[in-house]
Amino acid sequence: MSFTEQLAAEVASRRTFAIISHPDAGKTTITEKLLLWGKAIQVAGTVKSRKSDRHAASDWMAMEQQRGISITTSVMQFPYRDATINLLDTPGHEDFSEDTYRTLTAVDSALMVIDGAKGVEDRTIKLMEVCRLRDTPIVSFVNKLDREIRDPIELLDEIESVLGIECAPITWPIGAGRDFKGVYHLVEDRFYLFSQGHGHEIIPDRCIDGLNNPEADAILGDQAAELRDMLELVQGASHSFDLALFRAGKQTPVFFGTALGNFGVNHVLSGFVDWAPTPLARQAAQRVVEPTEPGFSGFVFKIQANMDPKHRDRIAFLRICSGRYQKGVKMQHVRLGKEVRVADALTFLAGERAHLEEAWPGDIIGLHNHGTIQIGDTFTENETLQFLGIPHFAPEMFRRVRLRDPLKSKQLQKGLKELSEEGATQVFMPQINNDLILGAVGVLQFDVVAFRLKEEYKVECVYEPVNVATVRWIQCADERKLNEFKKKAHDQLSLDGGGHLTYLAPSRVNLQIMQERYPDIIFSPTREH
Ligand code: G4P
Repeated sequence: MSFTEQLAAEVASRRTFAIISHPDAGKTTITEKLLLWGKAIQVAGTVKSRKSDRHAASDWMAMEQQRGISITTSVMQFPYRDATINLLDTPGHEDFSEDTYRTLTAVDSALMVIDGAKGVEDRTIKLMEVCRLRDTPIVSFVNKLDREIRDPIELLDEIESVLGIECAPITWPIGAGRDFKGVYHLVEDRFYLFSQGHGHEIIPDRCIDGLNNPEADAILGDQAAELRDMLELVQGASHSFDLALFRAGKQTPVFFGTALGNFGVNHVLSGFVDWAPTPLARQAAQRVVEPTEPGFSGFVFKIQANMDPKHRDRIAFLRICSGRYQKGVKMQHVRLGKEVRVADALTFLAGERAHLEEAWPGDIIGLHNHGTIQIGDTFTENETLQFLGIPHFAPEMFRRVRLRDPLKSKQLQKGLKELSEEGATQVFMPQINNDLILGAVGVLQFDVVAFRLKEEYKVECVYEPVNVATVRWIQCADERKLNEFKKKAHDQLSLDGGGHLTYLAPSRVNLQIMQERYPDIIFSPTREH
């Protein structure tokens, strides 16, 4: 096989996705079952046990100790059917951070997990907003069918109205809770029957072909006839699956099941293999880059610090956009205009942190970073490219930083500059005073910054509440109007770590009023690196 053919085949086999969900909907359980189906773990229970102390992980020390382990679940590569799956973990619970958002900029599709009893929840809404920036195709899984859930039709209505995306049911549940018997697959015209007690292992599917097969009545009793009636209703009221709409992010195929019972997860995986996009072309400032281009290129979407307590290293996570990574390859670090030789990139095959020989578009590799790599950096074989679409996201939590020792101001500046380049936090400097304001999307980010400032920069600070609800980056083509706005909004204006003009809104209502009052000003909730 020629290199071109091999590259095309590797691209065609890749599916790179992440899970979006509200805490407790079942992301961890489903991840574990995906790994089980991918034969990356032998028995379910390994991922889960690591999380048992997640609620105690609210200080960075404890987190740091876990990092050596949790890195193995940051990116998980495993085979399924004839595809190679890259599953990217989106930090949730206390470790929810801007990294969660940025991870979504590095995938080609996403799995939305909904708790069947709860429906669409806050965090899912936010994560969907991020997916929408790139019209990321979404596959949905309604989980916990082994419990009483809400009316499935009502759930689909809620997804449609709250998230603004069409639903196309692919499977439909037969009962729920104690009466949960399995699903009927609308596309395959086949029943899949649920057997309890196999949550930790793979068993062959028990199937009945054909909706009107009398075998279904024999096994399901009245539930078979009820299902047929229900399906008539469903098919009348909902959408049938349309690949083009799915790929455009306008329609989501919906599956039902129970992650805990390991039922339905394989249907979802097959959905990804059959329908989810292979690595997509990617927009750079200069041009669009196709994955099948021979020249290597990729961008950094996440930097994880001190992951290995023994080495105190930082790992930059790079998503490959085109070409092939090979051990020892020379790459251009475009922002620095420097050539670097990468001999020891990490891969995440089967959940293990292992040294890597080669990797392809859609794959994530880990580069050792000694402070020269920032979020959003592009690496290429030899071309000057800057990938777009790896933005800063408007923080929603804020703290004012005050030094305990005023003589350490230089160290504080340096620390905050480096930590913000790494994406650990964002920094804002108001125009009316000399305050330094930290912004984050997850509260643990402040603990991480406090800990790292103390440990790595020897700076101790006090972190005080401050009256800011959110920020927006300000732009306006009309200089006169911009100046008028600057005068009026002076007390709320600040510069971010990159020197960009931002508006610090004391409340959502205030923001809305300002947006209405100044229609020519762009209040952007994201900023490109
Ligand atoms: P998360 O990562 O999205 O936060 O969710 P996680 O998988 O940890 O699941 C949250 C809780 O929901 C867990 O229970 C988990 O066992 C349960 N769960 C996940 N999938 C299903 C399902 O299909 N059916 C049922 N009945 N429960 C499910 P927990 O009691 O909070 O945790 P644990 O003590 O079991 O670890």
